[in-house]
Amino acid sequence: MKINLARRCPPSARFGIAINTKGRNENAYVVVHCRTRIARLLAVLVILAFSCKFRAQQLTVLKDMSATGETAPHAPPIPPAGPLADPKSLKQVGVPVEATRAAVPGDNPQTSAKIALGEKLFFDGRLSLDGTVACSTCHDPARAFTDGRPVSIGIKGRAGQRNSPTVLNALYNKAQFWDGRAKTLEEQASLPIVNPSEMGQPSLDAAVAKIAAVAEYEKAFRSIFGRPPNRADLVRAIASYERTQFSFDSPFDHFMAGDKNAISDSAKRGWELFNTKARCNKCHALAEKKRDPTYFTDNDFHNIGIGIIRHNVVTLACKAEAEINSANTFDVDRAAIQSDMSVLGRFLITKKEADIASFKTPDLRNVLVTAPYFHDGSQATLWDVMDHYNKGDGIKNPWLDEDMQPLALSESEIDDVVAFLATLTSAQYQTQGSKELSRQRELSRTNRPQRDTSRAFGPKPVQPRPSRDCAVTQPEKKPQ
Ligand code: HEC
Ligand code: HEC
Repeated sequence: MKINLARRCPPSARFGIAINTKGRNENAYVVVHCRTRIARLLAVLVILAFSCKFRAQQLTVLKDMSATGETAPHAPPIPPAGPLADPKSLKQVGVPVEATRAAVPGDNPQTSAKIALGEKLFFDGRLSLDGTVACSTCHDPARAFTDGRPVSIGIKGRAGQRNSPTVLNALYNKAQFWDGRAKTLEEQASLPIVNPSEMGQPSLDAAVAKIAAVAEYEKAFRSIFGRPPNRADLVRAIASYERTQFSFDSPFDHFMAGDKNAISDSAKRGWELFNTKARCNKCHALAEKKRDPTYFTDNDFHNIGIGIIRHNVVTLACKAEAEINSANTFDVDRAAIQSDMSVLGRFLITKKEADIASFKTPDLRNVLVTAPYFHDGSQATLWDVMDHYNKGDGIKNPWLDEDMQPLALSESEIDDVVAFLATLTSAQYQTQGSKELSRQRELSRTNRPQRDTSRAFGPKPVQPRPSRDCAVTQPEKKPQ
């Protein structure tokens, strides 16, 4: 692929460096645009100098943390199942009954014994290399099947690059993971088991062997599947359990079902804004023209400017092109969870330029309970999320989705959209939800790191044109 950096940089900006030290980890992020090879070399030297300096700072921080005992060389305790983990009823208000049934694949029909086996496995640390991490470590039912951390922590305290999405309603996803690298829940389940930063098994067979050595499991597999434990049945059982985790019955569902008093006037205005001025429906709806009160996703991928300013995505995309075999899901999984190429999102799978740093539009149900937000957990509150959209963040990002733009939402309009999002909390999570709403509201009163009113009310910034040049040795592309 040919990318022309010359087009990208006006002469005045042939060599420009922007440093943003406001990142989540107080890291320095360096964005470099340069034209000539010499300038590129200089840029690399500058990056090296900066990264050495900040690496040294990071190491000092780590040393300080270990002195105070803050680093954990092990995973957090495994959350237990409890009533919130129970399979859900189809009788919830708002549940799409047909779609829920249709989400069950022909080769893995639901049976209550299989679901119970899947649930047991979901909460069992024995699936991991050292027994310390279960699926529930990062998908805790008490937190709407997330972990409440910016990024997840697996065996030996290893942190990954991505925020844990909820498993609730994942059965409706057309693709799994933030970048959609797995098609089905079955395919998805095998990846964390063998990811070195998650459950750390050397292979899926190693996990199967460990499970097969437990008499109770051996017996259950034989009675449910008619054969001893094996890879396919292991992930089938887990996926069956996940397909019982549909979560509706929120105040918004009651409102849609006709109870006009189920949500506040502010939330009603928020739902209106969601579908009009705030433009959320451009992506968080199955179809743009028709309101979608069920899924809140278009099942598509977009670059909405998350994390991109902190990374030199051009260099990373070139690296991924050279190093990542997109046909190998395990390769992609490691790049996504364990490397700085994680920020490339969907590009890791498609290698299409338009997919650079694009991620799956997530469903918004129970969003109040699943903070922090975005694929990298970079935003603490729904007000921060709103500030991000309001200013149409991502100016320096040539791959930003065309539907991102300044929204000119007033403070009270922002409050209205947040009030609407808060009504998507299922009945089971009402207590957590209202606690979390107060916490976020309190925090947002003093801390609005993403707010930029002049940008929110300003014109749509001119986007730089996408351009990338991995193979400097290749001949220049003729200008069209
Ligand atoms: C160490 C933490 C961790 C463990 C353990 C873990 N997950 Fe996850 N899970 C994540 C993270 C982080 C993601 C998002 C990764 C990405 O998109 O690249 C994820 C994504 C998912 C998704 C996709 C949801 C969506 O909306 O796309 C499902 C489903 C899921 N996990 C189920 C499981 C199951 C089943 C297990 C156990 C076999 C498991 N997870 C173990 C952290 C974890
Ligand atoms: C151009 C498409 C697009 C538009 C418009 C859009 N979103 Fe999103 N939304 C996404 C994508 C894609 C993500 C995930 C991005 C990431 O993590 O990198 C996301 C993530 C989110 C999240 C975080 C969810 C989580 O679990 O972390 C929230 C909340 C959200 N959007 C709400 C909104 C609201 C409210 C609006 C309207 C003001 C809106 N979105 C407009 C595509 C869009």
